[in-house]
Amino acid sequence: MSELHYKFPKGFWWGSAASATQTEGAANIDGKGENIWDYWYELQPERFFDGVGPKNTSQFYYKYKEDIKLMKEIGHNSFRMSISWSRLLPNGSGEINEKAVQFYNNVIDEFIKNGVEPFVGLFHFDMPMELQKIGGWENRKVVYAYEAYAKVCFELFGDRVQKWFTHNEPIVPVEGGYLYDFHYPNEVDFKKAVQVGYHTILASAKAIKAYKEQKQKGKIGIVLNLTPSYPRSQNPADVKASVLADAFFNRSFLDPSVKGEFPKELVEILQEEGYMPTIEDGDLTIIKNNTVDILGVNYYQPRRVKAKEHLPNPESPFMPDRYFDNYIMPGRKMNPHRGWEIYEKGIYDILVNLKENYGNIECFISENGMGVEGEEKFRDVNGIIQDDYRIEFIQDHLKWVHQAIQEGSNVKGYHLWTFMDNWSWTNAYKNRYGFVSVNLNQDGERTIKKSGHWFKTVAESNGF
Ligand code: NOJ
Repeated sequence: MSELHYKFPKGFWWGSAASATQTEGAANIDGKGENIWDYWYELQPERFFDGVGPKNTSQFYYKYKEDIKLMKEIGHNSFRMSISWSRLLPNGSGEINEKAVQFYNNVIDEFIKNGVEPFVGLFHFDMPMELQKIGGWENRKVVYAYEAYAKVCFELFGDRVQKWFTHNEPIVPVEGGYLYDFHYPNEVDFKKAVQVGYHTILASAKAIKAYKEQKQKGKIGIVLNLTPSYPRSQNPADVKASVLADAFFNRSFLDPSVKGEFPKELVEILQEEGYMPTIEDGDLTIIKNNTVDILGVNYYQPRRVKAKEHLPNPESPFMPDRYFDNYIMPGRKMNPHRGWEIYEKGIYDILVNLKENYGNIECFISENGMGVEGEEKFRDVNGIIQDDYRIEFIQDHLKWVHQAIQEGSNVKGYHLWTFMDNWSWTNAYKNRYGFVSVNLNQDGERTIKKSGHWFKTVAESNGF
């Protein structure tokens, strides 16, 4: 074997991530209840790219054995999946769907049999519709329903699953559902957005508390999309705006999850502007005492921040919009297929920040990846997608992860988003992210892309 330039620590987790709604299919099969995606698609199919909804996903529900075999084949020793809340508890609470128990038992056992460790998430944007009808995360009753759901999952699968994640990117349902209209219930209401965010954090702490009380032996954490904030200039107004953006978009969830407290800057501004959520007695103690064991970091792109030049618009529904704008920095490297900035060093900056300011908490890269529109054009005569851009993207990020490890970061693994091209919320199949392509016109035939073959060599040699 040729000498490796970037050697990773023994036991590094190599794999990828996906979620239930995006891969399972079988959306109304075997007793699964409706979730907000099933409901919203029936209501407004035109909001989904090419009119494709969550029933048409890659059918992991039927093909999990084949998929797990493929994961193993391309070097995975771990994989992050999620449980569909409305498959397990069709009404969100109450009766357990035995068919779902059987399915997740089979999937988990299949992973273990193949030497791929399953990392399991509880909530990945898929609120059961019965609970959304009473307000979803706006309603405190949903926090209790989620706590009960988490307990059921730990009891059923905790003997085999050793890594749990309470939420995936919890800020996204806040932004999508309550500010920018890209998730159901498509409201624009900053006050509700804050309450939703707060309830999500409380729910996470309650799940962690339940996990510890059950004396489960694994680790429990949360997956956050961290977008390092950089001011567009050293002008003090931009620097200040960038600190605030960090408090809103990163520390709002990172601080309570890891430190058990909310960032001071954020609380002050919410108090001043009259946007504090309703907090009940005892909540803050639960949050304080039930922080995560492990953190999943999703990293795609940085946030470049520019202070408002003119008087803030008091009518802006999203309060941070009155203080700063996101900014596309001229001259930066962009993903030519998607319009997102590529800034590999951002992943290192996040890891250094976690090391220096968050007690070097155990973490892993739970998502990183490159969405490509029109990827079919890169398919060669042998039917293999020649995604050299993805290989380069992963490699360039891994170099920075490696650098962080050299400097003492406690990062334990790297998971690409995603294993196979899958359905993406309203974007459906617009942007392809996988190591494996899926033929949507035929029987969902899977073909490993060049990046998948490359990843196998990296994972198997534990470096490159
Ligand atoms: C984040 C989310 O966790 C996942 O569901 C989504 O599809 C990817 N990023 C790609 O945007």
